[in-house]
Amino acid sequence: MSVTLVPSLPALPTVAPAPSAPLDVLGVPGEINLDYAATAPCARAAADAVTELLPWYASVHRGAGALSRRCTLAYERARQTVGDFFGARADDHVIFTRNTTDALNLLARALPAGTTVVTFAGEHHANLLPWPRGSVRLPVPADPAGAVRALAAALTELRRDSNPALPVLVAVTGASNVTGELWPVAELARVAHRHGARIVLDAAQLAPHAPVDLDTLDVDYLAVSGHKLYAPFGTGVLIGRADWLDAAAPYLAGGGATSHVGPATHDVTWAYGPARHEGGTPNLLGAVALAAVCAALTDADRVALAAREQALLARLRTGLAALPHVVELRTFGPDAPRVGIVSFVVAGWDSAAVAARLATEHRIGVRDGLFCAHPLARRLLGEAAGRAGRRDLPPTALRASIGLGSTAAQVDRLLAALAELS
Ligand SMILES: Cc1ncc(COP(=O)(O)O)c(C=O)c1O
Repeated sequence: MSVTLVPSLPALPTVAPAPSAPLDVLGVPGEINLDYAATAPCARAAADAVTELLPWYASVHRGAGALSRRCTLAYERARQTVGDFFGARADDHVIFTRNTTDALNLLARALPAGTTVVTFAGEHHANLLPWPRGSVRLPVPADPAGAVRALAAALTELRRDSNPALPVLVAVTGASNVTGELWPVAELARVAHRHGARIVLDAAQLAPHAPVDLDTLDVDYLAVSGHKLYAPFGTGVLIGRADWLDAAAPYLAGGGATSHVGPATHDVTWAYGPARHEGGTPNLLGAVALAAVCAALTDADRVALAAREQALLARLRTGLAALPHVVELRTFGPDAPRVGIVSFVVAGWDSAAVAARLATEHRIGVRDGLFCAHPLARRLLGEAAGRAGRRDLPPTALRASIGLGSTAAQVDRLLAALAELS
């Protein structure tokens, strides 16, 4: 790929080469994908695992034949690998779902009666909308320490004003899908537990960029999407404490979720464990592909991968900051730690028009809109206009996001294309 030099930009940080197999990613030559936060490209590890299993394609947990037994084994091994990757404790359930949205909805349905859920307004809709009426939505804090203080104050008040026997669940993201900024998950978990609450981590954006370990972070539940973690669409996972999950009505009633069905309409004994919530034939290939990526990441040098991504991110943010008509969105300070996600606006330009132009004229794919985090994105757009002192910012934003297959040349192409809009 030829590198287009970015006009009048400062010296940009250099970046190590992209990883090789099994963590190289598939793609189409010439197409520049800078939209990893929506869906990351498929890693070779995932593609190879699917190709290897396809000849054995048969039922899971439903057949005695050799093919079926191998598929059942592969599915359960995938569960073990994914659980291990995320530091699942011995008595946690690892439940395969369709994606993070599905995983959080499952948990929402499994909440004991009377549970209050506490979230922040900066969450993705998947972590705002499933929760029951009466949930508490805290304002977006100015910095990570503010989040910890706000949670402590809210839980103190909640415990004082409501029945202390009723459960409380704190629901937070690990990394913002709008700004990439990291949230202080371990500290929030400590505060939650100090107040007798549980915590669920939405790791959809954190897991593709950094190791996430339930036990180390001391979170009770974790939700993640395979398609953001270099595996194909259709698989996510909810991992966490067994008691609420085993006590809840099955998320999907049907075959596989039962241990006994009698002749009367409601004569059903539901299974315990992951099967209770995995009714119907499971997505074997998705689970195996996700497990293959988890295994490849376990073997990889995550420190080196993160350092490479940070260099690429610095290159992108330094380049954007040098463009006078581009304004970055952020919740915390400019130096707050973050993963490879940057949202911004081009002053005087409609964001959808910029995204379309990048696609058609430069073959660059980015996201535009409010990123399924409308409350946060609207707020940050208002703040960005105030900070930049501009009245010509559009009402929606653009988002560039990077990961394993991203290169300095791709970042430079984006910067050069944006420079043309001045
Ligand atoms: C932070 C966060 N949580 C949850 C989701 C929902 O993920 P999915 O669409 O895979 O269910 C997303 C998707 O962008 C996200 O960024």
